[in-house]
Amino acid sequence: MKTFDLKYYLSLKRALIDDRLDKILRENSSGSPRLINAMRYSLMAGGKRLRPVLCIASSEAVGGDAACAIPAACAIELIHTYSLIHDDLPAMDNDEIRRGKPTCHIAFDEATAILSGDALLTIAFEILSEAGINDSSGRLNWLKIIRIISRASGCSGMIEGQMKDISSEGVRLDLKDLESLHFLKTGALIQASVESGALLGNGSFSQIDRLMIYAGNIGLAFQVTDDLLNVEGDAKEMGKATGTDGLKKKNTYPFLVGIEKSKTYALELVNNALQALEDFDNKSDPLRAIASYIIERKR
Ligand code: IPE
Ligand code: IPE
Ligand code: MG
Ligand code: MG
Repeated sequence: MKTFDLKYYLSLKRALIDDRLDKILRENSSGSPRLINAMRYSLMAGGKRLRPVLCIASSEAVGGDAACAIPAACAIELIHTYSLIHDDLPAMDNDEIRRGKPTCHIAFDEATAILSGDALLTIAFEILSEAGINDSSGRLNWLKIIRIISRASGCSGMIEGQMKDISSEGVRLDLKDLESLHFLKTGALIQASVESGALLGNGSFSQIDRLMIYAGNIGLAFQVTDDLLNVEGDAKEMGKATGTDGLKKKNTYPFLVGIEKSKTYALELVNNALQALEDFDNKSDPLRAIASYIIERKR
């Protein structure tokens, strides 16, 4: 039997996503060149595109395709990129390298970085609402998709996670609170990527339920691995600084339970995710392969 080629799959989907993101940037290029350049600088800097790929792969897993999922996939990548620009600001993590390049506020300035993040976030919702307006099939519930993505990004999701992350610097959390922080900060948007893809692919309630379990587990595994890479990873390969969590006294899994237990936990989460896909056919092979990639990745 031919094994699934994740590398090839990722290259195809990333090309599709990058093309559409490029088109979105070109359609939004009539404003101040400094703002437009900063938006493009961060969005096209070579991110892994994990969330949009997950959105597309989830649509495919339930019998949909990339075409129906691409507006949500791109909206989520726009939101993710905005969150990174703001996360790197001096008032937040104060980081100088992202995606292998100087962070947006270093390459431009703080005001431009704040505004380009705001602009990327806003365009995301413009794209989602446009997709709804232009969808004449009436089959897809775009308002529901908008609600899922906004809840995952806002003060019930990512923003709350970021607030908890910043306000707990130097304060030791217990494992339960760290898990909640990580789910909000990173897991919620990953789960929204999967849920929106599955909805756009017309998945059944029970398929979506199982995919949500898959996504909750890989979302957490993703952040545990991000914590591990901050300790053990190679800064050049990752395109961002390492060792910074310790310096900022962040709450992380390696800090609370140590490296080995963190690795065991990440593996356990991936196994839970794979188990949730047990009844799915080979259309979910990309999701299976992505689950393993999440903890094996070096960047
Ligand atoms: C980094 O996300 C920030 C976290 C939520 C841990 P990614 O590792 O997906 O970053 P890019 O998009 O590939 O740059
Ligand atoms: C970033 O988390 C999460 C968001 C931007 C929502 P981190 O601060 O832990 O990630 P890196 O290590 O800077 O990518
Ligand atoms: Mg941060
Ligand atoms: Mg950070």
